[in-house]
Amino acid sequence: MTQDELKKAAAEAALDFVIDGSIVGVGTGSTANFFIDGLGRMKDRIRGAVASSEASAQRLAAHGIALFDLNDVTELPVYVDGADEIDASLAMIKGGGGALTREKIVAAVADRFVCICDTSKQVDVLGRFPLPVEVIPMARAQVARALAKLGGRPVLRTGFTTDNGNVILDVHDLKITDPVRLEDEINQIVGVVTNGLFARRGADTLLLATASGVQRIDAL
Ligand code: A5P
Repeated sequence: MTQDELKKAAAEAALDFVIDGSIVGVGTGSTANFFIDGLGRMKDRIRGAVASSEASAQRLAAHGIALFDLNDVTELPVYVDGADEIDASLAMIKGGGGALTREKIVAAVADRFVCICDTSKQVDVLGRFPLPVEVIPMARAQVARALAKLGGRPVLRTGFTTDNGNVILDVHDLKITDPVRLEDEINQIVGVVTNGLFARRGADTLLLATASGVQRIDAL
């Protein structure tokens, strides 16, 4: 199977978690796009969706799925999204597509986070994938110095502005043995909007696409 076929298999499996009549939280990225396309086929069974990025909002709208502002939503039974890395505790690095802040906000409202991945995203220790950190532009240099003190090598993502008008520092060379602590530490740096560690609120369920089928792994 190709990687795209695996991503699609995970995304299709996530459709079973969608509750009829509900509003669905929708992530961002190539795997989430397969989920959006599947959701398009069942759009008459849902009220609509909350998108975690402008790109996902556009794709949902193209399928004729109603879009809701998160502020108008009190119940979000499920949020479905991909990840850049995921460990055995279902902590993740996200933000390769730069949508980490909105992803974290929508995920925070959802009752269940369903992560859809192929096996290339599974790691023992998070950090081989550079950790994205969204930063207020005027704080870029000071945040970069603080991230270097934590042992990372921050690199500005050039030519990229987030949906919120901010910049991304991709932090290389981190070996993240305590993701919850590092998520907290980075969030304490003045000027940081969000970091791409999803450890305090990791996934509840991982749908992992392998060559022999989609495995379901639930957080302990
Ligand atoms: C978007 O900002 C990211 O968090 C994505 O969810 C993550 O990068 C996974 O993307 P792919 O499904 O394209 O690998």
